Amino acid sequence: MEPAVGTNQTERDVVLFFDTTLRDGEQSPGATLNTQEKLEIARQLARLGVDIIEAGFPAASPGDLDAVRQIAQTVGADARVDKFGRSAPPPVIAGLARANKHDIDAAWEAVRHAQRPRIHTFLATSPIHMEFKLKMTPEQVVAKVQEMVSYARSLCPDVEFSPEDAGRSDPRFLYQVLAVAIAAGATTINIPDTVGYTTPAEYGKLIYDIRQHTPGASQVVISCHCHNDLGLATANTLAGIESGARQVEVTINGIGERAGNTSLEEIAMALYTRHQIYEVDSNIVTQEIHRSSDMVSRYTGMVVQPNKAIVGANAFAHEAGIHQDGMLKHKRTYEIMDADTIGLSRSRLVLGKHSGRHAFRMKLEEMGYHLNDEDLSEVFFRFKDLSDKKKVVTDNDIQALVADELYQPPETWVIENVQVQCGTGLIPTAVVRLRNALGGFVRTEAGFGTGPVDAIYKGINQIVDVPNKLVEFSIQAIDEGLDAVADVTLRIEAPEPVGAGESAQGGMGRRIFSGRGVDTDIVVASARAYVQSLNKLLAAREERSSDVAV
Ligand code: KIV
Ligand code: ZN
Repeated sequence: MEPAVGTNQTERDVVLFFDTTLRDGEQSPGATLNTQEKLEIARQLARLGVDIIEAGFPAASPGDLDAVRQIAQTVGADARVDKFGRSAPPPVIAGLARANKHDIDAAWEAVRHAQRPRIHTFLATSPIHMEFKLKMTPEQVVAKVQEMVSYARSLCPDVEFSPEDAGRSDPRFLYQVLAVAIAAGATTINIPDTVGYTTPAEYGKLIYDIRQHTPGASQVVISCHCHNDLGLATANTLAGIESGARQVEVTINGIGERAGNTSLEEIAMALYTRHQIYEVDSNIVTQEIHRSSDMVSRYTGMVVQPNKAIVGANAFAHEAGIHQDGMLKHKRTYEIMDADTIGLSRSRLVLGKHSGRHAFRMKLEEMGYHLNDEDLSEVFFRFKDLSDKKKVVTDNDIQALVADELYQPPETWVIENVQVQCGTGLIPTAVVRLRNALGGFVRTEAGFGTGPVDAIYKGINQIVDVPNKLVEFSIQAIDEGLDAVADVTLRIEAPEPVGAGESAQGGMGRRIFSGRGVDTDIVVASARAYVQSLNKLLAAREERSSDVAV
């Protein structure tokens, strides 16, 4: 029998995974994603077995609405294969809406194309939010919830309601609001700890008490939505599951507002590894975790800290001699999970410089990449170039090449050539040649700087000419060794007009754009990363000017 998705978990007791990487996650500073990147991530979330994808906040802009609509029309319409290899329905596609008709209409317009659409509407219930942000009385909040959940339900059979800042709300008032939402047709009740204030014991009790005291609670799915301000998001979410919540709202790598949201991979692997404790299952295909983490990190430019649980570079590394000795004697002495379980392949030498195109395609397919001929040719060209320079090409190198080559934002500027001269007694000097992909022309400029990267960036600035400030720059080696491939991540900050909707006065604000570049040459990787961030900035300006025109 098919595992049920919804309230009747008949055979397996399943916790539903609601992924909000594309909504709450995208609210992380600098994590802005374009539509193409959102579609790729949504496809990967479907492969990962996520039950519900919160694809965005359609009322935010016509661009956001269009991205959610495209996800609903594609990822939300295509059947997939579940973790048992059986055919499964597409994920539910949810759109967020404040509790007003305009937002709910926009969310419905975006998600209605999905096979299984959901409207997720919210209104704050904590005293501080009601008094200072909403300027509404508790009675007005109750009335608004009744009116807007009914309205959403008149459009969509699947409606989720969230009392924002539930963690700091009066529990008795919460029971009242939630009962009204359920009576008005909500099918999922989500309990946000919006500011990451609660402790595991408190949050677990809150979920338990809501289930005990809210009329109608047993008819709906109760969901956890935790933020990580005190580093407790995972612990709080697990406490919620122990108290009977059967949906978790999570993001890949835990990205999200401020300190982020509960991370998907931590909950999925806690349920998997400690099944005897939690005694609940999930539909997550754990072997897709590493690939999902890598993709989200690449697209958002948010580097995963090396010691991050499950997906950090060191999560499966053993440095200390005593640990290595133990591992050799018995793997389980220091390792509670297998790297393969999260899809982290440990094979070292994959292909050599004599490997042909066919072998390369087979390898990519084994790694889960199914490329068309044109994309394959581009990646194969980069692979050949890399295997000329590097003795050992690993799966990680190939993964980085695929991501670097294929998942690019719309490119206004493309690097044709970079050269630098630097060293003792020399003024670091760079010559940069870029092609404008839209105009088809090429420009060459020189730059001087404090070092080779600075000189390159000055040269690029002479050509691209958009004011910005480099606010973060990091280089990592993809694997060990002197011939390792360098992976550069950076963030730039640029002045951006702020609309009257975002600030009372309008005027200039600042926005962050990330960039990432991969190459055996750290200077080339740095140039690629910088040009990528500038292309994102230019694409965002282009998108905003077309939004205004709609
Ligand atoms: O943290 C929060 O309160 C939210 C709601 C919109 C669900 O993200
Ligand atoms: Zn949130």
